[in-house]
Amino acid sequence: MATVQMRVSEEDLVQVPKGKERIPEPGVLVIFGASGDLTKRKLLPALFHLKQNGLLPDKAAIVGVARRPLGDEFAADMREGIIEFGGVDKSDPQLDDFVKKISYFALNFDDPGHYAALKAELDRIAAENGIGNNRLYYLATAPEFFTGIVENLGAQGMAEPEHGRAAIVIEKPFGHDLDSARELNHHVNSVFKESQVFRIDHYLGKETVQNILVFRFANGIFEPIWNRNYIEHVQITAAETLGVEGRGPFYEKAGALRDVVQNHVMELLSFVAMEPPSSFEAESVRREKLKVWQAIPTIPILNTVRGQYGPGVINGQRVAGYRDEERVDPESGTETYAAVRLQIENWRWAGVPFYLRAGKRLKQRATEISIQFRQPPLLIFNRMQASGPCSEIQPNLLTIRIQPDEGIALRFGAKVPNSPGMSVCPVIMDFDYAAAFGRSTANGYERLLLDAMLGDQTLFAHRDGVETTWALYTPILQAWANKKPEVFPNYFAGKWGPECADRLLENEGHAWRNDLGKRD
Ligand code: BG6
Repeated sequence: MATVQMRVSEEDLVQVPKGKERIPEPGVLVIFGASGDLTKRKLLPALFHLKQNGLLPDKAAIVGVARRPLGDEFAADMREGIIEFGGVDKSDPQLDDFVKKISYFALNFDDPGHYAALKAELDRIAAENGIGNNRLYYLATAPEFFTGIVENLGAQGMAEPEHGRAAIVIEKPFGHDLDSARELNHHVNSVFKESQVFRIDHYLGKETVQNILVFRFANGIFEPIWNRNYIEHVQITAAETLGVEGRGPFYEKAGALRDVVQNHVMELLSFVAMEPPSSFEAESVRREKLKVWQAIPTIPILNTVRGQYGPGVINGQRVAGYRDEERVDPESGTETYAAVRLQIENWRWAGVPFYLRAGKRLKQRATEISIQFRQPPLLIFNRMQASGPCSEIQPNLLTIRIQPDEGIALRFGAKVPNSPGMSVCPVIMDFDYAAAFGRSTANGYERLLLDAMLGDQTLFAHRDGVETTWALYTPILQAWANKKPEVFPNYFAGKWGPECADRLLENEGHAWRNDLGKRD
């Protein structure tokens, strides 16, 4: 298919104006579960990028907290992580100074006695560095420790420091069903006010996800057609080629629906489907997202599909099936693929099917949203060929590539030059993020950490939102738990998931789009 490239010259590259950014007040960031991968791979590189961009206050300290008895080697290890995962030059002039701000405190998460010592240590660090009493707690531990940590922080008065502000960032999973999410919310909100709670979904830190809102609401031409009158259906795919990467025990309890659909995919859905908020303030944005989720009627079990990968070939490499992965039950019934068809019953979307799917060990890594428009009411032109790329007059299709090859493409029909009559062939107009703005080294956590330090909750999940999405998916999870899948594994690694997933769409004359990514 021909592609019309959007050309952006060097001079047109947009430079972010400096000096307008807000810088957080001095404070201490305390990362619980700091010996895990997230801290080294994502959080510390992100904090260093903020520092490089002049977005961290000079007076700041980072305290890693975990059970292992680590000392100075923690800061040294974080330095390595910043270099390796943050793409930072080891001779960067700011690196040594930044690493001096990092320290470590060994603590048993559920030992109340340790928290008084932690409090004293944080006060000491703050006093020594003239930082004051602002504290940001980041829970990057296994979820079973969340409640204990929150309660202990509360018991020591660490949630309401004198002459300072405290806030808490909580990593997913935020509950494993509706009841557990409610219980966790209840515990957290009995210590921290909702305005102090930042539930992180790293998808909201992605530039391409935030750009959905810019695309829709900073441009005048899309909103008038962004509704049931013009849009035939919407597909959201979050496909990974990776398997469970040694996280067997976690994944056995999670599965694709809990791990990715209930949170990341539903966030994407809300950005695509929400009404224009009255401002980009947390309250307006989160209210509109919630209204989308609340308008989704119960999803019938018939409109869901689960799958599990068996062995197969990915990128020319043989890979094991899920049941053969490390620390996975050889008869596991956990789904590594989930697909659902849902409706949003409001004036904008009634009657438009939304098809969502997520899975591991699929053919291609691609997170993509595709919006298929209705055909014109009368087709007066001809297709170009009997077979090949010009064999059909295809409906307009807008694809938003969240990752990789970040960009947006619009497919439309064009007259084939010098063809007899008025023959039409689909072409693509493509916006490529990297070509327009250069490659970004940001990992999404920069924006979210900065916003949490600034107290801006716009890109974080609200308690009501989390509970509403759990309310939608809990009955499906229960139904699946009550009935072991008949044929698992039901797709080969390296394929597009189980065949039965095609039937979700076929009945309505649609098909999954499996040629994802950028097409040149
Ligand atoms: C995480 C899931 O939340 O998201 C992982 O726990 C998944 O299983 C990951 O691989 C996907 O994130 P990304 O940014 O690579 O799409």
